[in-house]
Amino acid sequence: QQAVIGVTGLGVMGRNLARNFARHGYTVAAHNRTNTKTKALIEEFGHEGEFLPAETPEAFVASLARPRKMVIMVQAGAATDAVIDEFAPLLEPGDILIDGGNAHFADTRRREAALRERGIHFVGVGISGGEQGALDGPSIMPGGSPEAYESLGPILEDIAAKVDGVPCCTYVGPDGAGHFVKMVHNGIEYADMQLIAEAYDLLRKASGMTPGEIAETFRTWNEGRLGSYLIEITADVLSHVDRATGKPYVDVVLDQAEQKGTGRWTVQAALDLGVPVTGIAEAVFARSLSGHVDMRGAARQLAGPSGGGLDHSFADDVEQALYSSKVVAYAQGFNEIQAGSAQYGWNIDLGAMATIWRGGCIIRAKFLDRIREAYESDPNTPTLLTDARFAAEVGDAQNAWRDVAVTATKNGIPAPGFASSLAYYDGLRADRLPAALIQAQRDFFGAHTYRRTDRDGVYHTQWELPDRPETRTDA
Ligand code: 6PG
Repeated sequence: QQAVIGVTGLGVMGRNLARNFARHGYTVAAHNRTNTKTKALIEEFGHEGEFLPAETPEAFVASLARPRKMVIMVQAGAATDAVIDEFAPLLEPGDILIDGGNAHFADTRRREAALRERGIHFVGVGISGGEQGALDGPSIMPGGSPEAYESLGPILEDIAAKVDGVPCCTYVGPDGAGHFVKMVHNGIEYADMQLIAEAYDLLRKASGMTPGEIAETFRTWNEGRLGSYLIEITADVLSHVDRATGKPYVDVVLDQAEQKGTGRWTVQAALDLGVPVTGIAEAVFARSLSGHVDMRGAARQLAGPSGGGLDHSFADDVEQALYSSKVVAYAQGFNEIQAGSAQYGWNIDLGAMATIWRGGCIIRAKFLDRIREAYESDPNTPTLLTDARFAAEVGDAQNAWRDVAVTATKNGIPAPGFASSLAYYDGLRADRLPAALIQAQRDFFGAHTYRRTDRDGVYHTQWELPDRPETRTDA
């Protein structure tokens, strides 16, 4: 008997993914660098399906039906390269090597190109949903050759989460496309989490609500347009009381947010592509600010506002600010996917990405259906903010959003996500931007030239001459 698919790397994610395949009736080859994990998988979960445990890479590869399909589930980075170096020589042309880790898309592009030369399909797959998702149905974002997807795709779609019967998995595009989309997913995840955290902080400090009361508010919001996994788990977290101290759990957790890098990558890639992902960037920087313990300690003595006052009726405004800022974060993330797709020739279907994020993944949310509809009605929409329904909703919410930003500012409560999303919204809708002045400054000190509003051409003003003559430089 041969295995339909194999998994090497049986940490929690790898183990649960292997179990998910087995539970769906696929015979799964299982391998781990140290054999104890393989044994543990068989002992604990062997009854869930057909597993073929393998002690060596050779035995593992020999147990796979051709074309071989093997998933690597190890720490992204050097470990992935080590596993590829170990297994690739054992594979044959036509075999499919799948990386299910959170790899950087540039690494995936490099690996795909190298393996393609040897006739091996390298498929970089973004997998979201954490441990539980891997087991019960994650959102899956596979990138690689369409040929590889033909035989691999149906298996992945089978084990993915389903929403209205539609699998949360689809072919994303060539080489690094899947990992790029997963990276942006994580960037949006950072923004979403930051915005929710700001909403909590404002309700707590500007409304004087307790964590328990805020949990109730979040539960109510979860019934509406903000309905999402992250809102749901936030309500759970906020209603939890620490066993040891009897205090709200959120009060005993150290307030220094960590990160493994995917949010930072999203911002770095966006900087390179020239896409303003301000919401995601603020979220990444807010995490790093929280970790600067020395600066924070020294800065505690800095002057704050002389008093903003509590606003007890402000929860509804915060909901509007949260929703609007969330629309901005997703709009920015989708713009980054659009730009990455254009840059690397991936031809990514944005509506399809919204579709596969509706279930299984960390950012699953009701309103992804709306995003899907927005891209279905206009695949070239320049920004989700101008989609008729989002434009109307955010238009209605913007006054509350502004009030929330004002209240935050007056009370000295940092709300970088809300504030910068609002600035982005106002930046996009402005008739004229002070970018004109920046162009003039650039021309003044560096003869960098500018264009005019009233006629074609590229111009330079000779600022050093008394009458400041203007010349056309492109004629
Ligand atoms: C997912 C998550 C996951 C990621 C965590 C932690 O989609 O299941 O994005 O891939 O590892 O969210 O990320 P940070 O440690 O950077 O917060």
